[in-house]
Amino acid sequence: MKTRIAELLQTAVDHLVANGTLPEGTAPAIRVDDSKDKAHGDFASNLAMMLAKPAGKPPRELAQALIDALPADNAISGVEIAGPGFLNFRVASDVLSDQIAALLADAELGVSAPAAPETVVIDYSAPNLAKEMHVGHLRSTIIGDALVRVFERLGHRVIRQNHVGDWGTQFGMLLAHFEANPADAEELLLADLEGFYQAAKKQFDADPAFAERARALVVSMQSGDAECMALWHRFNDITLKHADALYARLGVLLTRDNLDGESRYNDDLPRVVADLDAAGLLTEDAGAKCVFLDEFTNKAGDPLPLIIQKADGGYLYATSDLATIRLRIGEYQCDRSLYVVDKRQHLHFQQVFAVARAAGFLPESAHFEHLGFGTMNGEDGRPFKTRAGGTVKLATLLDEAVERAARVVAEKLPNASSEEAALISERVGIAAVKYADLSKNRSTDYTFSFDGMLSFDGNTAPYLLYACARMASLMRRCDAAGITAASVPALEMDAEVELAKHLARYTQTLDRVAERGLPNLLCNYLFELASHYSTFYEACPVLNSEPAVASSRFALSSLTHRVLVDGLKLLGIDALDRM
Ligand code: ARG
Repeated sequence: MKTRIAELLQTAVDHLVANGTLPEGTAPAIRVDDSKDKAHGDFASNLAMMLAKPAGKPPRELAQALIDALPADNAISGVEIAGPGFLNFRVASDVLSDQIAALLADAELGVSAPAAPETVVIDYSAPNLAKEMHVGHLRSTIIGDALVRVFERLGHRVIRQNHVGDWGTQFGMLLAHFEANPADAEELLLADLEGFYQAAKKQFDADPAFAERARALVVSMQSGDAECMALWHRFNDITLKHADALYARLGVLLTRDNLDGESRYNDDLPRVVADLDAAGLLTEDAGAKCVFLDEFTNKAGDPLPLIIQKADGGYLYATSDLATIRLRIGEYQCDRSLYVVDKRQHLHFQQVFAVARAAGFLPESAHFEHLGFGTMNGEDGRPFKTRAGGTVKLATLLDEAVERAARVVAEKLPNASSEEAALISERVGIAAVKYADLSKNRSTDYTFSFDGMLSFDGNTAPYLLYACARMASLMRRCDAAGITAASVPALEMDAEVELAKHLARYTQTLDRVAERGLPNLLCNYLFELASHYSTFYEACPVLNSEPAVASSRFALSSLTHRVLVDGLKLLGIDALDRM
């Protein structure tokens, strides 16, 4: 539709140039994107405002001239001037019916294979091993997983990357602690890995001999000492089991095949340093090897280094991130790499990408982007903590969400069997946590509130899941009543037209989610879809209408249901048939 409207506008402009209303050369070629979507699927163009000045006419007057010069087209049922001079196009309802018919007949709901499929690396979750995952990892895991699903759905090849922090000082501490406490059994580690790590960290800070031993063990580990490596494997396995269990419960796609943690890059780090050196980028600063680029300075205007190797020979977070780029470009041949990481790491990624470009690790054609996200705050507006001030463990948080969901479910759905209630509570509780996160613009901080996310009103998972279950129930009743879905639904009532327009915008919404890395755009879309449906359902009875009308409305309902289920799936949420 957009292209069609752009073509019509171009014809009108050419006409105005030909008749002298617009001076030659003032009218730009009309780009499809200059006609913006209006909220409900019609189109608005600000062309008249752009051209008013060169034409020397008030924008509304020029808008009228454009309308007069528009060729007739049966895809458009009307054009109006709005506000200061916007041109609002209304799409003809038979065009819309055809669009809906095409969606109904298409198993992919209008999503077609991209002209040029990309290889997209998505870096997300990335907990630090030897520590239990906590809420800080939740956002990355959930947002990253939704983006994986959207890119795959759009036909791109996605490579998931879990860049776990599985190397370096903390492992030295653990090895030293283990050496000093050989009685520590694996069961103890599983039961309280966090406590084990904390004890090691405490001793590391307090006891210089222990710290020295820990550092020596890091060196042994880095040079591949067999005993150290065996223990390292064991620690990793224990902690990864925690992560796997959480991924499974959250319905997150990450598996062990997606692990390319910091340890993977150990052997490449000296080569990264050598290559930076060969490119003439390294500067020694107090014994450390650094890269200074002109574009990075601190507040005082002093140059800001990216430290590559410490004076003691140790490598840094940035060094392994330079290595991730080489792997992703060299081996994975990616066109795009998205890093779903806390926004406080923004400068780190800007520096790493810039250094990689300067060193020739990262070609101009590859799109690398840090998709930062804000902090998850408690209702007091401060970073989310337990009452005692500790970090909240992810497993505990999910348990509480499900427990609270069970209370809401018991109240809202008193007739569910206990088995059904348990299943619904688990689904609703987990979905609520995920959706609450996904529905906020990732770049801002957000307030974690169990009450808000479990509400059946508003832009929440329970609302959407319930809407979905009600649609599924209507489908069953239609089937039972022998109603079949029309293949080309008639769009007569306003509520039908509005719903249809919204349905027609599904693929374009997915494109935008991918383009901007913003799953909240999909949440908004689905919430609006459910709202349009609810208006439609009130205004347009399905079951008690004459057969042709019922069949047409059944088709619209079933398409809405399919889009909602598909959209939720892309957010990593499984719809329920009954609630
Ligand atoms: N483990 C890191 C952290 O917890 C996140 C890693 C993100 N990915 C990356 N390639 N740096 O902060």
